[in-house]
Amino acid sequence: MNMLTDKKITLIGGGGFIGHNLALALSKLGAKIDIIDSLQVNNLYAFGRAGDEILHRDLYIKIINQRLDLLRNAGISLHLQDARDYHAMSRILSDINPEVVIHLAAVSHANKSNKDPYSTFDHSLRTLENALDASRNSVSHFIYLSSSMVYGHFDSIAVTEDTPCNPLGIYGALKYAGEKLVIAYNQVFEMPYTIVRPSALYGERCVSRRVGQIFLENAVQGKNVIVHGNGKDRLDFTYIQDLIQGIVKIIENPKSRNETFNITYGEGREIREMAEIVQQNFPAISVEYQPKDSLTPDRGTLCIDKAKQLIGYSPMYPLEKGYADYIKWYTSLMDYKHAA
Ligand SMILES: NC(=O)c1ccc[n+]([C@@H]2O[C@H](COP(=O)([O-])OP(=O)(O)OC[C@H]3O[C@@H](n4cnc5c(N)ncnc54)[C@H](O)[C@@H]3O)[C@@H](O)[C@H]2O)c1
Repeated sequence: MNMLTDKKITLIGGGGFIGHNLALALSKLGAKIDIIDSLQVNNLYAFGRAGDEILHRDLYIKIINQRLDLLRNAGISLHLQDARDYHAMSRILSDINPEVVIHLAAVSHANKSNKDPYSTFDHSLRTLENALDASRNSVSHFIYLSSSMVYGHFDSIAVTEDTPCNPLGIYGALKYAGEKLVIAYNQVFEMPYTIVRPSALYGERCVSRRVGQIFLENAVQGKNVIVHGNGKDRLDFTYIQDLIQGIVKIIENPKSRNETFNITYGEGREIREMAEIVQQNFPAISVEYQPKDSLTPDRGTLCIDKAKQLIGYSPMYPLEKGYADYIKWYTSLMDYKHAA
């Protein structure tokens, strides 16, 4: 028995990269997990859509089917539902009657959000408001996945949860608006919450084409690795298992209630360093530098002292360890054979 045994936890947007990994981990710890997901955004139906020119479509569908197989084998219920539908969400949440709700649904990519603000608002804020409203009378802990993008440009090497937020672009603005909405529901209805700010995640079964994944896909195909900027920009790269450890501690520890936490590895690393790890594994490829998008904020370290002190968070995967594991998994999936 542990604190999670038989705890009813519902993950909205739980069919995505973070959600399915988190669901599997929580289920292993004995929690009763329900997932609500439409599988329509950055997921099965988006990649399966006929006619769209989608890079690596077959590979991504294979990865998503792996997620669904793992969830099915773990006995996790998946409710196929668009969370923008308020009435359907109220009905499902009232049927499940969870103690904890974790809200992950969103358009989870800054570039895509800037290209399509309307749908980003709908999938991110509309779904969040529905979830909050359907949870407010019965749920004892509401956890919201925000982002390091709420900070905008970092004006020092590291940011703490008290650093003022000045988000840049649609994605960061909506994430920050989401935080304010979660806090408002606590002010008005006293629903306990925790806000989580992750950053630059990588790990198994991600199809979001973030930097670490794109580097690898290029390298496996013998193409150059392209770095946007001069390679000295820092990101607090975080392996999925560290984020999961942080969220488990947040659920277990009452000190997390009504708090905001940076949950990252806790060390900004130059993008060039990630490219170098790829080069060590694929010595034939070169690194190319191209201009950086002006809407990409200058970032760095998210200080994790608060999470360490208050809830005992202790990340275990520096880039050299987590990214190496991820490279191993990705290359085996792509049937890549390293030169002898
Ligand atoms: N991955 C990262 O590096 C990162 C970093 C910071 C914050 N986040 C945040 O964490 C959350 C999860 O990120 P992820 O990487 O797992 O993203 P993801 O795109 O893999 O998963 C999002 C899931 O939400 C679902 N969804 C979206 N709109 C929906 C709707 N209307 N109804 C039902 N389901 C819907 C999608 O189908 C998808 O399965 C997001 O809110 C994201 O902004 C992610």
